Amino acid sequence: MLDLVVRNARLPDGRGPVDIAISGDRIAEIGANLAADARREIDAGGRLASPPFVDPHFHMDATLSLGLPRLNRSGTLLEGIALWGELKPQLTREAVIERALRYCDLAVAQGLLSIRSHVDVCDDRLLAVEALLEVRRQVADHIDLQLVAFPQDGLYRSPNAEANLERALDMGVDVIGGIPHFERTMEDGAASVKRLCAIAAERGLPVDLHCDESDDPMSRHIETLAAEATRLGLGSRVVASHVTSMHSMDNYYATKLIALIAESGMSVVPNPLINITLQGRQDSYPRRRGLTRIAELRAAGVNVAFGQDCTMDPWYPLGSADMLEVAHMAVHAAPMTSREAMAWAFDAVTVNGAAAMGLPDPRLRKGGPASLVVLQARDPIEAVRLKATRLCVIRKGRVIAETPPRRARLAVEGRPATVDPADYAPVAEDTDLRTAAE
Ligand code: FE2
Repeated sequence: MLDLVVRNARLPDGRGPVDIAISGDRIAEIGANLAADARREIDAGGRLASPPFVDPHFHMDATLSLGLPRLNRSGTLLEGIALWGELKPQLTREAVIERALRYCDLAVAQGLLSIRSHVDVCDDRLLAVEALLEVRRQVADHIDLQLVAFPQDGLYRSPNAEANLERALDMGVDVIGGIPHFERTMEDGAASVKRLCAIAAERGLPVDLHCDESDDPMSRHIETLAAEATRLGLGSRVVASHVTSMHSMDNYYATKLIALIAESGMSVVPNPLINITLQGRQDSYPRRRGLTRIAELRAAGVNVAFGQDCTMDPWYPLGSADMLEVAHMAVHAAPMTSREAMAWAFDAVTVNGAAAMGLPDPRLRKGGPASLVVLQARDPIEAVRLKATRLCVIRKGRVIAETPPRRARLAVEGRPATVDPADYAPVAEDTDLRTAAE
């Protein structure tokens, strides 16, 4: 007797309808019309069953703090950092835990089950580190939570940042963070990248830097990061987050740089919601979008995954733990509207994020982990378009969240009583909307 069977599901690669048989925390079998008795059956109704969503870039110590102690009036990154600095002395361990757990509830309901969160280590009390380590322990059955020791005020610009970062790693924080573009000088920024990569090599840990989150085309710390990743053989343990400066770089230099990034084996994590709102703030018109060069990085073979970065905090007044909203924004802001690129955007918030975080491949397969989400959509593009309802969230074989399908009731005579937003006219297979720019 199996524990659970999800019947009549479509997979992100187009296969289906299939049944997904689950025994314990593993997928026992995937196939058409499986003859299987199970304690519970879920009818996916021809909808998409996908690996859970992954957010490889978040700030759980700041989340849901919007308005504390005041709002960000300019809407800039720098005022956000200053505002967070005002809030930091007022934080309590209990309040950070409470906000983080509320966010984790939201994340689970959205099928977001793997999160890499930065945690600020520039408060000598390391109160937020203690709080998020406790949260990591409490949510372990529901969410894979990785923590990054993040010197928000600069490794060298903040007095005790390096010592605090080492202390946080000793306490069990998983990843090394940094913010080279916020150091006082370009030289300090480059030195911080080298030091942080050296610590990563010494400790055998991943390194994930806020790198060149700037409109300044001369912010080139990504070059140093790529070179150090290659020199020290850190490869896939390295993530460069944001790299918005690449948006504004000279094309010739970008061509050289992208080859260095690809050579290093690192992942790149843009944060579309935040990049489109924080970048270009000093521009008049034309106003830059500030998203990094996603299509060119992809074409070079770089693993690109999308992060959410913020939800209701000093940097961003919106957000809902919805990684499909993140993918939706990327499709617009990049822009990338070919069917191939829109389908890829779904990978960028699922399997690519898992690769960036160093997690096992989460694709649904026989023998793989029984963690998946049933969506009110038939395929990945539909899921992105609708920011589809998560009908059922399954983690290690257990149903941990369910949401009823979204339906609109029509008041027009002669029309059906209800409409499912996922009912659409499929696009012909041979339709190719790809544009030269992509
Ligand atoms: Fe961030």
